[in-house]
Amino acid sequence: MKKKSALIFGVTGQDGSYLAEFLIKKGYMVHGVKRRSSSPNTERIDHIFDSINFKNKDFNLYYGDLADGSNIFKLINSIKPSEVYNLAAQSHVKISFDIPEYTSDITGLGTLRILESIRASGLKKTKYYQASSSEMFGKVLKKKSINEITPFHPRSMYGVSKVFAYHTTVHYREAYGLYASNGILFNHESPRRGANFVTKKIVQGLVRIKKGKQKKLSLGNLYAIRDWGHAKDYVESMWKILQYKKPDDWIIATNKEKSVKSFINLVAKKLKLNLEWKGQGINEVAIDKKNNKIVIDVNKKFFRPTEVEYLKGNYKKAKTLLKWKPKHNIETLIDDMINYEIKNS
Ligand code: NAP
Ligand code: GDD
Repeated sequence: MKKKSALIFGVTGQDGSYLAEFLIKKGYMVHGVKRRSSSPNTERIDHIFDSINFKNKDFNLYYGDLADGSNIFKLINSIKPSEVYNLAAQSHVKISFDIPEYTSDITGLGTLRILESIRASGLKKTKYYQASSSEMFGKVLKKKSINEITPFHPRSMYGVSKVFAYHTTVHYREAYGLYASNGILFNHESPRRGANFVTKKIVQGLVRIKKGKQKKLSLGNLYAIRDWGHAKDYVESMWKILQYKKPDDWIIATNKEKSVKSFINLVAKKLKLNLEWKGQGINEVAIDKKNNKIVIDVNKKFFRPTEVEYLKGNYKKAKTLLKWKPKHNIETLIDDMINYEIKNS
């Protein structure tokens, strides 16, 4: 029987790298798309693919960019993949305030370019996965679990672009009968998380402070609440979403909430850093009780013009129909991230 094949846009990112590993283990031929960069951007996949010696027969890498529609069409039309995973995006919410037009082009229109390429290639059997985001819910009025029918109210051009991409996916399903599904994933982290996302910043910063390599960690809103899962669990849900009997939209989360501050406290406790919090608002600091030095402060440059204060997801539909549930919890997620930083930072 012919191997199944998957094309991953965003293969060099956190999720793309775990998904590539996962699909290779499942016996897929995996095709990944990386964008051109002046310094190496394949750190997360170098262990599965040596781009000089073409080491892995189950994995191919191509240049591409979500800004380049003809390149996307050529890749899709020649590979004719069984499954396409669109994980590529300008994925940083705060940065989308600085580069709103670029974010809309890649995170929003990039989705349309892929879907239109699948449609124009006449690939009726190709399944499409869209990396939708809890950021689409944005301004949540009541602090309760979000589900698939909660209305969207995005608070950044990243969120607005993801809403465009979500509806484009639904539209291609309804208008052209494409198998196109949205995984609406809540925040998920791992040792491979980008350095400027809050969990990585906290774990890396506190490990480095513990090692004496860094004096202080500066953060923004300590009171935002998130539902944090492990990226390894979440890439499995992406695959399960595309194996379901029909295309649909799915919330993937843990249904547990934590503030940024309580995430810090958990990490500090595991590192045996004895923190004392003092002050309020922009003047709030955490002091290391061992030496009375400020190790965390608040800097307004990390605040967003509009914040998403609260995100918690109800994944009951995925649990019931996909038989998916998270294997990790916040403790094992943090342990995994700390162990990595202890060895590598
Ligand atoms: P990530 O680590 O930032 O990875 C993003 C990927 O997109 C990288 O491979 C990046 O390439 C690539 N990319 C960026 N701009 C591109 C362009 N113009 N053309 C082609 N590729 C481009 O993000 P992630 O955490 O793995 O998230 C994966 C997807 O899920 C994203 O769409 C994100 O918005 C979405 N999402 C993430 C979360 C989460 O909590 N992690 C939650 C919900 C949804 P480089 O490596 O070269 O930068
Ligand atoms: N990045 C960052 N840096 N965030 C901070 C900081 C800081 O120094 N201090 C506080 N925060 C707060 C942010 O204001 C936000 O409320 C929360 O920590 C989480 O920020 P991020 O880790 O940057 O993630 P995000 O929730 O904005 O976005 C991530 O999750 C989305 C899903 O809800 C990204 O992965 C998005 O791509 C994803 O769609």
